[in-house]
Amino acid sequence: MERDETLCHCMDVTKGEVEDAIKEKNLTTVEQVQEETEAGTGCGACIEDIEDVLKEVSG
Ligand code: FES
Repeated sequence: MERDETLCHCMDVTKGEVEDAIKEKNLTTVEQVQEETEAGTGCGACIEDIEDVLKEVSG
């Protein structure tokens, strides 16, 4: 997934926004990403993608 792609369609959050929040605030869990970015707080379909970005950043 590219940085400018929308990761969470419910809340209109891009992959890049999620990635930056994870890096800047040292987020480690989906719950923390939800609090910071609102991604994943709608239908929940993007939770797996959030997990992938978390793994990518920590990886
Ligand atoms: S697409 Fe992210 S909560 Fe629905």
